[in-house]
Amino acid sequence: MITTTEYAPAAAVPVTTAHTNGSHGASSVPARVVMRIEDVRKNYQMGETVVRALDGVSMSVRSGELLSIMGPSGSGKSTLMAIIGCLDSPTTGRYWLDGDYVENMNENQLAAMRGRKLGFVFQQFNLLSRTPALENVMLPLTYAGVRGKEKKDRAMHALELVGLADRSHHRPNELSGGQQQRVAIARALVNDPAILLADEPTGALDSRTGKEIMELFLNLHQTRGLTLCLVTHDPKVGALTPRVVRLVDGLIVEDGA
Ligand SMILES: Nc1ncnc2c1ncn2[C@@H]1O[C@H](COP(=O)(O)OP(=O)(O)O)[C@@H](O)[C@H]1O
Ligand SMILES: [Mg+2]
Repeated sequence: MITTTEYAPAAAVPVTTAHTNGSHGASSVPARVVMRIEDVRKNYQMGETVVRALDGVSMSVRSGELLSIMGPSGSGKSTLMAIIGCLDSPTTGRYWLDGDYVENMNENQLAAMRGRKLGFVFQQFNLLSRTPALENVMLPLTYAGVRGKEKKDRAMHALELVGLADRSHHRPNELSGGQQQRVAIARALVNDPAILLADEPTGALDSRTGKEIMELFLNLHQTRGLTLCLVTHDPKVGALTPRVVRLVDGLIVEDGA
């Protein structure tokens, strides 16, 4: 069970008190909670009717976790990702991200949270198509106020992590789909996010390339402790993550292995 103290603002401090559930990695000290939502609801008023896109969702993610969010079309996956990603606000409910209480933040504060604490990977890569890979990866650092050599070095390092250091001057339209998604992953990693959110990251790729992208994610998870929350409708992708959260009609119906 999650106790209230774990998702209070102090949750940014590693949780070191007695939690005997050893399911969160080999360490005897459970990883800190980096994301916690509680009873989150999102309603859309459509004329006379209210669409309950999320109907009371509670979950938490610990540092270093790798999980999939699955569920049929219309079950609320993208809505949930948008809220976790500080791109949209819940109608009601509470949300802590890496120790900060998100619920009362204004647009500027939410944008700052996105830049500092989150990385995003999308189905369609969403790169600037006429801009070299290195500059695409530097963009989040520019927003964060990182300049000069440090900016370039960190972006190059991120490209190295995804195996594309030798493509830094290529534009996305000179790269394959799999390579473009690697650039997008480098861009998402470059700010060292508390959570990387990926909405159908393999959805636009053929199955072999999709498998390579999943292998990259698994490698980053194992070697660098990447915390990754991905949305997929593909059972083969879901089967690769230790935890699967299943949504149906805006509710979590299953959360486990
Ligand atoms: N902007 C919106 N306005 C009205 N209804 C929406 C909007 N976004 C999503 N919905 C509705 O909310 C429900 C969940 O949508 P979504 O989160 O996109 O599901 P999924 O990503 O699982 O396919 C659906 O019934 C959808 O039609
Ligand atoms: Mg969706």
